[in-house]
Amino acid sequence: MNALLRRGDEVVVLAPLYQQLYSIAGAIGCRLVRLPLAWDRGYVPDLDAAAALIGPRTRMIVVNFPHNPTGATLTVPQQQELIRLAARAGAYLVWDAAFGELTYEQQPLPDPGRFYERAITMGTLSKAFGLPGLRLGWCLAPPEALAPFARIRDYLTLHQSPLVELLARRVIENADLVLAPRLRQAARNRQTLARWIDEQGELVSWVKPTAGVCAFPRLERVADVDAFCRRLAAERGLLLVPGSCFGCPRHVRLGFGGESSRVEEGLRRLGAALVEASVVGNRETRRAAGGKRGAPGAETAVAGTRQPWRLENARDLAFRRSRRQRAGRAGVDSAQLGCRPWRPRSGRAAARPWRGRRSDRARPAHAADDRQGGLAPRGGGGAGRRREASGDLGRAA
Ligand SMILES: Cc1ncc(COP(=O)(O)O)c(C=O)c1O
Repeated sequence: MNALLRRGDEVVVLAPLYQQLYSIAGAIGCRLVRLPLAWDRGYVPDLDAAAALIGPRTRMIVVNFPHNPTGATLTVPQQQELIRLAARAGAYLVWDAAFGELTYEQQPLPDPGRFYERAITMGTLSKAFGLPGLRLGWCLAPPEALAPFARIRDYLTLHQSPLVELLARRVIENADLVLAPRLRQAARNRQTLARWIDEQGELVSWVKPTAGVCAFPRLERVADVDAFCRRLAAERGLLLVPGSCFGCPRHVRLGFGGESSRVEEGLRRLGAALVEASVVGNRETRRAAGGKRGAPGAETAVAGTRQPWRLENARDLAFRRSRRQRAGRAGVDSAQLGCRPWRPRSGRAAARPWRGRRSDRARPAHAADDRQGGLAPRGGGGAGRRREASGDLGRAA
């Protein structure tokens, strides 16, 4: 980009997108035109919208498929259409194929340079080859672009270590051997992740990635995803990139390319944290509402969190029950969650599940101070639960 772009040039970029792919053009002073990747289109770009954005003023189009952070990719006809739009405009097509070899539902896409002379394709040993430490990648570009690239590189790295080049050459010569186990691992992890997402029920939504090793799920009941990700790193040793880095604050980027046992352990920790976060979210909601049930503003205090004083019908009870089951699977103590382990009810209680137990209703007033953290339905049905919750929830908050 430093070699080909000048201040004021128009550059069409996907949004969201891996940061370096747009911020260098932004720093040069180019005009960035964003082509949105929408959730309801499975994060595949709308090529009619692209046709309207790409025109004679477009100097460069920057895309990345398989896509970081969403895990979306194009079909061959969609790729051909994008190439056609670039050619019509005479624009450079920067094709970042860092995850190019990692596809699940189709063959890897061809190098666009085979069809269009102004395509610039980038690849790396860091992803599917599993060798990020070698710091080696490649760029296929027309000669008119390669010459200025080489000049800039002279100032930056001059050249690679011959030892690294030797290793890289061996890897490329044996690419199938190196790639096969990693592709199997990524496919297995993707299935593990899909099962995990299913188990999260209402807590997480996603578009299943079709390629690459990134997913971009939405955390439905976490009030502050940035803070949640910071807590995950500090308290659970789990790194999850908050979606705000990509302009999507309710999402997280979840990488699933690692060793399967580590991915499974990471998901287990994340599941436990999500269950807790939705409890803490409720507590914060209640606090923001001045600690009062039904206080003005309570319903909008923390968007997307369930309000405990509204858990009053059978559907909500089912939600609470499934949360306890999930907590059990995730290894979260029911005391931490703020509820008793679930036991099937029978007789009158089963017929009127929204009514709390008589013993709970007779709860002493001094227990009121731990009310905020509980999951109690209206009517005091969860007083015992609230008492159990007080200590651990306090620390979690
Ligand atoms: C989309 C994309 N492009 C390029 C890169 C750069 O990879 P590397 O510098 O390790 O070759 C990354 C790394 O995460 C990436 O996600």
